[in-house]
Amino acid sequence: MNPAPAEFKTRRQTLLSAMGEGVAIIPTAAEAIRNRDSHYPYRFDSSFYYLTGFKEPEAVLVLVAGDQPKSILFCRDKDPEREIWDGFRYGPAAACEQFGFDEAYSMDELDAKLLVLLANQPKVYFSLGVSALWDAKLTACLNHLSTQGRSGVSVPDAVCDPRKLIDAMRLYKSPFEQAIMQQSANIAATAHNRAMQFLKPGMMEYQLEAEFLHEFYRQGAQAPAYTSIVAGGANACTLHYNANNAPLRDGDLVLIDAGCELDGYATDISRTFPVNGRFSGPQRDLYELVLAAQTAAIAQVAPGNEWDAAHQAALAVLVQGFIDLKLCQGSPQAVLESGDYRRFYMHRTGHWLGLDVHDVGDYKDRDQQWLRLAPGMTLTVEPGCYIRPAANVPEHFWNTGIRIEDDVLVTATACDVLTAKAIKTVADIEALMQTS
Ligand code: GLY
Ligand code: MN
Ligand code: MN
Repeated sequence: MNPAPAEFKTRRQTLLSAMGEGVAIIPTAAEAIRNRDSHYPYRFDSSFYYLTGFKEPEAVLVLVAGDQPKSILFCRDKDPEREIWDGFRYGPAAACEQFGFDEAYSMDELDAKLLVLLANQPKVYFSLGVSALWDAKLTACLNHLSTQGRSGVSVPDAVCDPRKLIDAMRLYKSPFEQAIMQQSANIAATAHNRAMQFLKPGMMEYQLEAEFLHEFYRQGAQAPAYTSIVAGGANACTLHYNANNAPLRDGDLVLIDAGCELDGYATDISRTFPVNGRFSGPQRDLYELVLAAQTAAIAQVAPGNEWDAAHQAALAVLVQGFIDLKLCQGSPQAVLESGDYRRFYMHRTGHWLGLDVHDVGDYKDRDQQWLRLAPGMTLTVEPGCYIRPAANVPEHFWNTGIRIEDDVLVTATACDVLTAKAIKTVADIEALMQTS
């Protein structure tokens, strides 16, 4: 049962208005084979889901804009035999009623109906290059229509990408979406706290992973939102480390970058903490620096501020800290201009967050100006520092990787930290780990 058909219907109406004319074809994702006849867990296409709320594979949304706009779902038929093996499927009639489409048909009818729906339309909205199968299907349909000119049929003369319109909508989260994202963030935040509580020196990285995965599933999240990172010691200096198979050693830090997906919405949290429950002096110096950078960045997340303001605020704090800690030499301006800080901080400070962990939406406008933040946008704030052994780097910092990442919602006046339940001050981390 779709819990909120009206929410999804409103989104379709908004897109239909933005299209003005023409037909949009928006397929969901294909099922993917993992090996031989085993599949990966199925994950719908985010934009298809955004417009439908429909989670089954083998489905496509067709939107017909114009004076009499309508939304049509094509989906799998009911199939009692297959449902014994694979589970429930709605079938067109129930899907139409419960998800609020104007019409719904079997996928078996798609090819014939598309010929009728696309005939004499000025344009078709379709994302070319995503799926060879869907590209071929549309091409076959357009080729077929082009042979019917003598019957007075005209072919759409433009194929436009619907992503520009859909992505602009997805950038602003509705109250319905914000509520799910807060719930998702609460689950992931408490999962990070649980990992801190259960950590003991000598555990394997995958055993720590098991603790937060346990909490994700225990609280009803459907999946991790992306491949989790559990990186002890030097492993944290590999930004996309995900082997998660090394022992966690007394005296090292561990960096976890993990979030859950709830009803399609991703959470993305990073926390870094000492394996033995107490930061060493150099670890604390670096940790406090990254935390100060994050605090400065979050203070810039407010309506009207440029997207890049948070990154620049984090960078200013980090660069001064790198100089104070003798990691970089020279004036802050010189270090910024030369880019010398990139030896220790080589990524940006955040990204949009939503149905995709790196969510859709532009960062700059057509004039190459940074977008300005506005209420309803959701993003991560995730400064870090990663220090590999090198001749001109103080040895007590070697092999230390730290990232602190939270998810924030731009509000009417400033921002809410959705992941605030995940503890992160030195005092709170040490207190939690030492009482566990
Ligand atoms: N977990 C992916 C990221 O932080 O961007
Ligand atoms: Mn992130
Ligand atoms: Mn992350």
